[in-house]
Amino acid sequence: MLGAAAIVFLGAVALLALAWWRRGTEGLPLLGRNERASTALVVLFGIAIPLVSLSVLFAVSNLSVAGGTDAPERGSTELTVEVTGHQWFWEVRYPGTRAVTANEIHIPARTRVTVVVRTADVIHSFWAPQLNRKVDAVPGRANRLLLYADEPGRYRGDCAELCGAQHSRMGLAVYADSPAEFRRWLDRQASPAREPASSGERAGQRVFLDSQCADCHTIRGTPARGRIGPDLTHLQARETIAALTLPNTRRELSRWVRDPQAVKPANRMPALDLAPSEHEAVIDYLESLR
Ligand code: CUA
Repeated sequence: MLGAAAIVFLGAVALLALAWWRRGTEGLPLLGRNERASTALVVLFGIAIPLVSLSVLFAVSNLSVAGGTDAPERGSTELTVEVTGHQWFWEVRYPGTRAVTANEIHIPARTRVTVVVRTADVIHSFWAPQLNRKVDAVPGRANRLLLYADEPGRYRGDCAELCGAQHSRMGLAVYADSPAEFRRWLDRQASPAREPASSGERAGQRVFLDSQCADCHTIRGTPARGRIGPDLTHLQARETIAALTLPNTRRELSRWVRDPQAVKPANRMPALDLAPSEHEAVIDYLESLR
């Protein structure tokens, strides 16, 4: 398409230059003031050539590109991942297992995977451009998309539909792992959270469960079963927090918990105004969720 567009563009520029060059002369070059030849040129370049080239492009794109990006038939792939858009993160579930994570989607490489895309609030759009086209997350609908990575690696994605104040910080990443690595990852994600091991972690868990944290977040294996924010059961298995906004380091996690509204204004997480010792204990606990 770029090649065809370049030829048309250069042709049009050449004709403009010719017209300017001959601005004092009447009629067409070679043909002079020939009405029928002028009409024939308009029909050829204005109707016939566009009709032929657009028909060819339409056929080619429908036969190859559109077919290759189609939603997979129900049950035709080896794995299904359920992705739900929230303002502003992606909830990720693996049906048939207890695994729940957020924003970082693992799939086995060289495997056809169905992604079922839904939304918990407004319209979002799931897009990992290196893997497939985008698909909208529309309230009340479950849209399907094929994900296929022919090479292991990390494929960056984003929300591709304006969905509110933090639309630009609603990133996602698809990690294509070797099948064995993927199995290990999924088994770990499906398991309940690690028990706190130190007194600091235990204190942090108490603060977490007694504060608003537990109303919004789930940590499987504890009474925390909130569904508003991301599942934190294996928070430390993720490389980023806040939908790829921050690297998942102690420093950034601490900054996020202390004042989420400074990082992503209008997101649904409040600052809890914890005492410094409580804050450090909660971070200890969150850091232990491997
Ligand atoms: Cu979600 Cu933009």
